[in-house]
This record gives sequence, C-alpha cells and structure tokens, in this order.
Amino acid sequence: MATATKKAPAKKAAKAVAKAAAQASAKPAAKNGAHKNGTQTNGVHTNGAAKSTGIPPKKGKGTFSEVAGKYCVRDISQAEEGRKLIQWAESRMPVLMHIRDKYKKSQPLKGLRLAGSLHVTKETAVLVETFAALGAEVSWSGCNPLSTNDPVAAALAKGGISIFAWYGNHEDFYWCIERTIDLKPNLTLDDGCDLINTVHEKYADYARKEVIGGTEETTTGVQRLRARAAAGKLYYPVYAVNDAITKWDFDNVYGTGQSTLDGILRATSVMFAGKKFVVAGHGHCGQGVAKRASGMGANIIITEVKATSAIKGVLEGYRVMSMDDAAKEGDIFCTATGVKDIIRKKHFLSMKDGAIVCNTGHYDAEINLKELEEVSKGKRTIRPNCEEYTLKNGNKIYVLAEGRLVNLAAAEGHPSEVMDMSFSNQLMCHLALAKAYKEGKKLPNQVLDIDPEQDEFIAETKLRTMGMSMDKLSKEQLAYINDYNAGT
Ligand code: ADE
Repeated sequence: MATATKKAPAKKAAKAVAKAAAQASAKPAAKNGAHKNGTQTNGVHTNGAAKSTGIPPKKGKGTFSEVAGKYCVRDISQAEEGRKLIQWAESRMPVLMHIRDKYKKSQPLKGLRLAGSLHVTKETAVLVETFAALGAEVSWSGCNPLSTNDPVAAALAKGGISIFAWYGNHEDFYWCIERTIDLKPNLTLDDGCDLINTVHEKYADYARKEVIGGTEETTTGVQRLRARAAAGKLYYPVYAVNDAITKWDFDNVYGTGQSTLDGILRATSVMFAGKKFVVAGHGHCGQGVAKRASGMGANIIITEVKATSAIKGVLEGYRVMSMDDAAKEGDIFCTATGVKDIIRKKHFLSMKDGAIVCNTGHYDAEINLKELEEVSKGKRTIRPNCEEYTLKNGNKIYVLAEGRLVNLAAAEGHPSEVMDMSFSNQLMCHLALAKAYKEGKKLPNQVLDIDPEQDEFIAETKLRTMGMSMDKLSKEQLAYINDYNAGT
C-alpha cells in the first residue's frame, strides 16, 4: 500500500537525506539566494521592499507583510482570524488529522523539502501544517490569483511556514511560485501544473537531478501532465491525485457542486428556482453543479462534446443542446470543461439581457472576456465578484469573478469534509514518494496511478469517522463470487 511508511534503516535514510542536501546546494533556483540570505525585514512593506536581498521586486501594488525569503502575505495581523478558520477546518478533516497523529512521531518527511502551489484555503492550511508536523520543510504559493484566503495565509506565515500568496496577486503569480522554488524543493505539489511547469521549463536540469517526485491535484493539471509525459518531457514521477476514487468521485462532484453554487450565490444572491441554468461540460464537476442547481429548482441545460456524458445528462432529465442554442435560452451559465473559448463573442451577442456568466474550471480561459470587451461599450462593478458589461446592443451581461473559478474566488472552495479525502490522498502520495526515496527505489518518470489500497483506506477511515459501519462478505459469499462454475 502506498502509505506504508515503515522507517528506512536510520543510517540509510540519514545518508539519503544528507546526499539530497548536498545536491540541493547546486540548484539553479539558489541563484536568488533567497531563503538563506534573506534579510529579516519583518514588518509591512510596499512594493519592491525585497530588492536588496537579490529577490526580484514584486510588480503588484499595495502593502504587504513580508520577511524577505520567508513569507510575503497581505497582512500578518490577520493571523489570529486565519488561525480560527484553520482550527474550524481541522475539526472537519478527521482523516487527515488521523494520518497526522499516526506519523508525527516517526517524522517520515524529515529532511525533505516540499514546495506547493495550491489554493491557500483553510483546508490547504491543514494539509500544509500536516506536512510540517511530519518533518518536511515547506514553502507554499497559491495556484490562482483569486483564491488565497489572506487571513489563512497570514496564520501560516505566523506559524513558521514559508508562504508567498495573497488574494489578487495577478501580476506576481509566478513571482510567488519562484519564491517557493527558492527552498530548493525535492518534492512538489501542484494544482494545475504551474509549479511543475516552472520547475521543468526554467530549471530542467534541477528537475531531472534533484526532485524526487510530485503530485497533481486536478483534472486539467493531470491532462497537462500526461501530455508532458507523452512528449517525453516529464523529468520526475508525479502521482495523479485527481484520479483517486476518493478524490474525483467526491471532491469533483459534491465539492464542486456545493462550492460553485455557493460562489454564484455570494456574488449575486439570485434565486435558482425557475432559472434556465446552462452547465457547459457534464464531466464530474459539471455533474455536481447540475445536480445541485437542479435540486434548487433550476431547469438544467447541458452542453457537451462527448456523447456518453451528454446521454448521462439526458437520463438525469436535463436538456442537451449546443452552446449556440443554449446561449439564447440561459439565465445563468457555468463552464466546467477545462477547454478554452467555450463562451465567446457570438454567444454573448445572442444572450438574453441580464444573463449571468461564470466558470468553475481551473483556468480562466473558458469564457472569452477579451471578446466580451470587444462587443461591450462599458463595464462597472456591481458588487464583489460581479461585473456588469453593457453590450453595444444595449444588453447587460454579468461576469462573476473575472471568469476565474467562482467557487474559490467568490466563496471558500469545497467544504472541509470533502477536502479531507482529497488532501489525505495528497499526503499519502508524498509519504509514498518519501518512502521510495529513503529506501533507494527509483520510481519511473511517469504519471503514477494511485494505489487502490490507499483509496480503500481513506474511504474506510472517512466512513468510520462519520459513524457509519459496513457489511463484510462471509467466507461462503467470497467463495461464491469467485466460483466460475456457479450458474443459475
Ligand atoms: N479546491 C476546491 N476547493 C478547495 C479548497 N477548499 N481548498 C483547496 N483547494 C480546493
């Protein structure tokens, strides 16, 4: 099972870690000299404060709380507020907390350095602090400019985690990722492949020689990884966490369903009942959104390119049509495809006055806002995460969260209860990578599948913490299902 973390013989492990540390000192990312030489300039700084340390300046405006080379967050004084949110999440993530308790004594990640790029939410904070509790040195950035919870980021910084993240870090998104690479990580954790891509494209030699392995959280990220592996350009093994059953069958469906509606409601407060709600893409995420919107009385229209996913929609009682047709009918549009230009100029032009448009896919490419600008004569902010575009034809279209994932930009992302399983998968995959490394096993530079035993362990633990019990097959029943001669 991927998680078995029997300790490697102490000497061998220590040797491996020492070797890693020695190798690490040759890493290209060290050219910024950031985490070692960073001037400890604790306090609030405006843009550019870190120049003297050799770290390139941030481009974004505003004030930051920053200790050069250690953290850069919006406002460290929000740490107490963030700590309460993290404690709230901890109390709803029993599986992750169970694994933390189980391994904190044996310190299976000791000597390893992990860089992560994943939405800085209260749930992510529980994962980050679990990595640290198990011995890893951790550096973190967000994976979307609009998904960082600033108080949570402040709490992590105050708790000693290296973190470079703030809500609205559009111009500095990659600056933040680069700062996490200053740690010279030998493990990476991604949601959307931006960290893996940066390490591979800018520090290829380092990626090949020094990184033990990584994980990827999301559907589109795994697609990118597979494309990279197929091109022979993946330089270390990466677990496809998204493909764990205890991830995609729960987080993608129930998590996305609830958090997307939460985001739309916080940004608009509209009534769903009676509305024509267009869901672009009826994969797992789209299914969750459609199911929950339907449960609130919306009439669902699905647009799809895959026949099997379209049929599923039909059998759920939804209508299925092309976006060209749906654009004329919809009151609310939500994209969940992972593909660009799903809603574009011709669709905006045929939409009804007052249509609401949002996206819940990872990247902000699904709604072509550039084309919306082209056909608009004005734009104003109505309320947080709700922009009104006035078209040249006089119609108004409302875009939520700049077309970025509405569930994290306008709400808090998926609930802690479901992230519990997703992040337990993240943790167990990193434990497996660390174990293989400490035992001297080289995993192939491929996209790795999740061990089915890991899924089973997480599901069973989750059920147990929910107070549910299951049946067990008897010996006779087991023999019956394995009996090829058993007939009618
Ligand atoms: N992705 C979706 N919801 C999330 C959450 N609550 N935390 C981190 N990543 C997420």
